[in-house]
Amino acid sequence: MQIPNLKEAGKRTNNQIQFIIDDYEIPDSLKGLGSGKKYFIKTYGCQMNVHDSENIKAILEMMSFEETCVFEEADFILLNTCAIRENAHNKMFGFLGRVKHLKESKPHIITAICGCMAQEENVVDSLMKKYKWVDIVFGTHNIHRLPYILETSMARREQEIEVYSIEGDVIENIPVKRDSKYKAWVNIMFGCDKFCTYCIVPYTRGKQRSRQPEFIVEEVEELVKKGYLEVTLLGQNVNAYGKDLEEKTTMGDLLEKVAKTGIKRVRFMTSHPWDFDDKMIEVISKYDNIMPYVHLPLQSGSNRILKLMGRRYTQEKYLELVDKLKSTIPNLALTTDIIVGFPKETEEDFKETLEVVKRCEYDSAFTFIFSPRVGTPAAKMEDNTSLEEKNRRLQELNDLVNTYANKKNQEYLGSVVKVLIEGTGEKGNLMGYTDTMKLVNVDGDSSNIGKIVDVEITDVKTWSLDGKII
Ligand code: SAH
Ligand code: SF4
Ligand code: F3S
Repeated sequence: MQIPNLKEAGKRTNNQIQFIIDDYEIPDSLKGLGSGKKYFIKTYGCQMNVHDSENIKAILEMMSFEETCVFEEADFILLNTCAIRENAHNKMFGFLGRVKHLKESKPHIITAICGCMAQEENVVDSLMKKYKWVDIVFGTHNIHRLPYILETSMARREQEIEVYSIEGDVIENIPVKRDSKYKAWVNIMFGCDKFCTYCIVPYTRGKQRSRQPEFIVEEVEELVKKGYLEVTLLGQNVNAYGKDLEEKTTMGDLLEKVAKTGIKRVRFMTSHPWDFDDKMIEVISKYDNIMPYVHLPLQSGSNRILKLMGRRYTQEKYLELVDKLKSTIPNLALTTDIIVGFPKETEEDFKETLEVVKRCEYDSAFTFIFSPRVGTPAAKMEDNTSLEEKNRRLQELNDLVNTYANKKNQEYLGSVVKVLIEGTGEKGNLMGYTDTMKLVNVDGDSSNIGKIVDVEITDVKTWSLDGKII
């Protein structure tokens, strides 16, 4: 048993990280462990978790498990969790109630909790005390160990916990079962060293570790060969890519290398305003296959709050960067993340955030009420704003964000845009995204799925566009 330790997880040393580049193999004795059994995986949180689930699926299928989307049918249920805000916690504990109920009628079911909540000391403590029936807990650093953890758990039938609170390694070649045949997530780095004062990620994901560029380029080249049209390069702050590598490579260098593979669309996320350099902006504007879309979290427009958040930029620096991006990258779409109700945020601070939103005219924004995370500095800061007031600020912010989202979308009316058709949407029509990441519901037949087609925009909503193939 190895349980998480928050203090250890927050440590950073100069120890060289390990690059593990061997092929991923499991012993023959484990290859049939899942034979005749089905797994169900529920994924919460960010794209990184989505991609981790793609790895977990492939590992389970190496063990002969078969995927099911019907939760009641499963022999093995995994919850890949997110720890970013309290409501992510609540959602997962809510679902766990359903799992318990199912397990009461089918006691043979194995249950596992993994992902960022599994890295939290307080969560695992509670799983050990109040959720003894949860069979397995494993963390974000040891997904590759799943076959062995599962084997031990099945043999012992006792709660099996294996969570490492380490800075982490880079493990290449973990198999992957991708959800899409057209667009792929590609990790370029793991972890985060920014330690924004509100954020749990540096504790749940470890030290910043960049993958070596050759491996990333090789992965994208393979994807091109398989017919993939789009890659999204993933990291908690991709702009800092390569700073930790012995042979320095910047995000600008990497983007250029990836663009040169010829893949039709390159995206990247998330960008931290701090490390966005001119080379990166130049490369984005130079290559047509790097999408003109930047997600640039603001968090707050007030310098006082930005400082308390440990974001290391000012409103002025942020706006300067936005101006540069907009003037250099034609047709740029810009989105952001904003937190309201951070400890000590006053009405004046909040108004500054609104002012920045007005200046930037974001295409859309994810907006959140501050949620204290155990172990982070901001959780200990005095917070005297009522929840009612925080809700009011959130509502006012959302109204403003929606106004601009709608205004930006209106500009598309009547225009012809390129859309990667991914599949069918909720209303049975086709759906896909523009290069600027706008969701489009498209009239057309299914032979267009998996193609980038010209679409004329015929109607506009706040969150999506409607169009027809021309
Ligand atoms: N690495 C990204 C953000 C990852 S988390 C970046 O630095 O930009 C996604 C978003 O969740 C953050 O941008 C932030 O707006 C929000 N978030 C993170 N911690 C939060 C907390 N404790 N309370 C509320 N929102 C939070
Ligand atoms: Fe969290 Fe800040 Fe790292 Fe983003 S950059 S993951 S907000 S600590
Ligand atoms: Fe959540 Fe972990 Fe991603 S906390 S947002 S799943 S890195």
